Amino acid sequence: MHAHAVTAAAVAALGAAVLLSPDSSSDARFVRAAQPTVIAHRGASAYAPENTLAAIDKAAKLGFSWVENDVQRTKDGRLVVIHDDNLARTTNVEDVFPGRAPWKVKDFTSAEIAKLDAGSWFSPDYAGARVPTLERYMRQVERNHEKLLLEVKNPELYPGIEAQILKTLSNEGWLNGTHRNRLIVQSFSADSLRTVHQLKPALTTGYLGRPAEDELSGYARFTDLINPSYADISASYVSNVHALKGPHGKHLRLFTWTVNDAATARQVRDYGVDGIITNKPDVVRTALSTS
Ligand code: G3P
Ligand code: CA
Repeated sequence: MHAHAVTAAAVAALGAAVLLSPDSSSDARFVRAAQPTVIAHRGASAYAPENTLAAIDKAAKLGFSWVENDVQRTKDGRLVVIHDDNLARTTNVEDVFPGRAPWKVKDFTSAEIAKLDAGSWFSPDYAGARVPTLERYMRQVERNHEKLLLEVKNPELYPGIEAQILKTLSNEGWLNGTHRNRLIVQSFSADSLRTVHQLKPALTTGYLGRPAEDELSGYARFTDLINPSYADISASYVSNVHALKGPHGKHLRLFTWTVNDAATARQVRDYGVDGIITNKPDVVRTALSTS
């Protein structure tokens, strides 16, 4: 453990209206932000259909700059933004292509997916929303001046998807200096994340999950963040994450998910988390500002 790690309690005692550690020198202490970053999960997905352009527009309207998404690949090799490995829950695929069960994303072409309604399942107000391609999605993130926590979803189904995602991000201008600071790539797959780090070492990465404390230093070779479920963390775990430094010489950070109520938001804030991933960013913001 880092000798100078500052605990959440110590920071609170300092009454710190503080910033992240200002530099990455070897003895810089971890100092947490005054409040965690709030990330709109699959967009503001409590209020608009998840992973659609409408969901990131809604996050922007609510005043949030960070959004999260999930990226997978179609039969003809296009990257699309969708959470499940099949299209049934969040589109009308069963009506449009009734003979194509189990409706896997990887078994449909991008032209077929473009025909699907990805909004009506959520509300008639969003009828006609589409499953976005990653290119289209990135352009909307840019238009909204947002920042993106991009999840490589089910990478075991899509060999080579990491390089393909990086190519798309590069084509869209997201791998240069300023944009890179508005981007984090995360995955539940350590192998996938290691690949991303090897292909583009400058990029910020996040591992989705809760490695055992004695395994964290291994993850710190390729990931800048550890992003566990809120049910799996404690103040001590967060502090142990913060004590380590990642591949860019900065203390590891921790974003937790998926926190949709005020009490849990305050609890994880008090644990010292750096980010809260939520379907209801407005609820989390209010919770953090009223206690
Ligand atoms: O960003 C955290 C969260 O998205 C991970 O779980 O299943 O919602 O992608 P899931
Ligand atoms: Ca996700």
